[in-house]
Amino acid sequence: MTTILSTWKEPGRVAIEAAWQSRKAGADLRTTLEHGLTAAELDPKMIAIGLGSIPNADGELELDASMMDGRTLEAGAVCAVRGIVPVISVARRVMEKTPHVMLAADQARRFAIEEGFGPTNLMTAESCRLYSEWLANRELEKEYVHSLDKPSDTVTMLALEDGPHLVAASSTSGMAYKKPGRVGDSPIVGAGIYADDEVGAAGATGLGEELWKACASFRAVEQMRRGASPQEACDEVVAQMLRRQPRAAEMPCVVFALARDGSWGAAVTNGTFELWSCQDGQLDCRTYEATQAAAIM
Ligand code: GLY
Repeated sequence: MTTILSTWKEPGRVAIEAAWQSRKAGADLRTTLEHGLTAAELDPKMIAIGLGSIPNADGELELDASMMDGRTLEAGAVCAVRGIVPVISVARRVMEKTPHVMLAADQARRFAIEEGFGPTNLMTAESCRLYSEWLANRELEKEYVHSLDKPSDTVTMLALEDGPHLVAASSTSGMAYKKPGRVGDSPIVGAGIYADDEVGAAGATGLGEELWKACASFRAVEQMRRGASPQEACDEVVAQMLRRQPRAAEMPCVVFALARDGSWGAAVTNGTFELWSCQDGQLDCRTYEATQAAAIM
């Protein structure tokens, strides 16, 4: 049995369908998630991650990505990379071809180009239009950013195969119109992703500053290590965030977890969140609401 999870309705569907096609053709879990995230990154119509997503305050796309393998705890990540897609593939190469965990900004781009990735203009006509609109409304910046209906600018994926063996991966364009150089939780091992074959894997999406402060993914995995179910682990992380972090309720902060026994769960601090699952090709999308975690505070 192969189980794959993927965040947010539209980009998550593109990613999980591509991931399953890859898996069906015989890919290992690293390649399965790489292909899933690549499909979402390269879709110019998908205003979520990679090509054609929402830029920073300078009108430039700065992308972050990460991958972690639960067998060896190997991990690779890149952050604030301009003009390169798919960044998930660059993150994987950091993991597999360097002794490091993360490369940042211009030097991550240089590494990608050395590895054969071509520099690309990531701004589409639609992302330019959205940026111009944001510039025109800049004095209303806070309200405008928060008016984006959901922070679905991140796709985080978890995968499990018999063994059990797990891999986690994430790709994001980060917060819309962010300060240049800003990096959120997604490329941070322990915040945006974590995987350990002894226990399970977890991922995050949403307001990256708060998820990072919470070390959300690591915390969820450690809760499972102490015996919590994935749902209990996510509820605990989100409840603790709501109790200790005043900003955690401002926007959705999501943590989701997949245990080595194949069970999974998710929780969100505010609003609703959609999580795709794929069990040997059987696709489902479930909506999670903020109420459950708030109830156990
Ligand atoms: N969770 C994505 C970010 O805040 O960058």
